Amino acid sequence: MELLESIINRRTHRESFLDENISTVHLNHLIEAARWAPSPFNVQPWHLVVITTSQKKRAIGKLTANAIIEQFGDPEFLDDNSRWMRSSIEEWVDCEDGVLLQDQVNVPVGLSKPSVLKPVIKHASHFSKLGKFGGGKPAEETENLINCAPMLLAISMDRNRKPPGAGHLRWMWLGMGAMIQNILLAATELKIGSQFISAAIERTSDREKLSKILDLPSWHEVISLLRIGYLEKHNANENTTRSFRSVRRKTTDFVSYETYSQKKADEIKESSPA
Ligand SMILES: Cc1cc2nc3c(=O)[nH]c(=O)nc-3n(C[C@H](O)[C@H](O)[C@H](O)COP(=O)(O)O)c2cc1C
Repeated sequence: MELLESIINRRTHRESFLDENISTVHLNHLIEAARWAPSPFNVQPWHLVVITTSQKKRAIGKLTANAIIEQFGDPEFLDDNSRWMRSSIEEWVDCEDGVLLQDQVNVPVGLSKPSVLKPVIKHASHFSKLGKFGGGKPAEETENLINCAPMLLAISMDRNRKPPGAGHLRWMWLGMGAMIQNILLAATELKIGSQFISAAIERTSDREKLSKILDLPSWHEVISLLRIGYLEKHNANENTTRSFRSVRRKTTDFVSYETYSQKKADEIKESSPA
């Protein structure tokens, strides 16, 4: 697969994976991709915990489910989320950003019409009153996805491996992002799907619990959690099903030349051969 093809084809996989363990050869391939990521001063601050045992998956699944239930009980969190929730494919394509609600949770049939769903999303904060009942279903779904994933990758950052300068954390985070993207792209090439599971990474208290489950040393900060597994063989309508669709802003919307407001490139002069 061409690199650009892998970049464009990579999708967040929010469904179950094939019931097949990731082979050692493929795992080593992902780890090697991670290893060669750039980082400030080549500090390589990352650590990967590869999780395949059901005991650890269950502990992480439970922690994540509890975090989701708490988030659904928080009106501010729901309100903040709703800004990026789209109620229909048409709205999503039109906005060119955000996520489709029905890709995130199984929306009850009675609510699935955009005319019903849009106002529901707009007033999402009211759902906090449902407490456990509001978050129970999405929490259960995510917990199942975690428990059934062939592999989880927990990613932490070694704060002792800090580059010089007051802004060291910022540079370390950029390196972590580059490393994670290397894994995602290497996985795409191998028909391995991935999903960030961030609910238990959001709050300090949950990150501490996750660190405990993983037995991380105190100088490590947990950064990310990924579900990993082989994808179903691609089918004919792969670009329209839940795990194969996404949207992006047009390049003209986020690229400018020389200054922020110049939308068109000056004519690029070809340098003549010496
Ligand atoms: C830092 C980060 C955290 C994310 N957390 C989650 C998450 O908790 N659950 C989820 O389903 N997707 C998560 N995503 C995936 C994004 O929702 C997804 O990348 C975006 O909607 C674009 O879709 P695509 O990856 O399919 O192109 C996360 C992505 C990033 C980079």
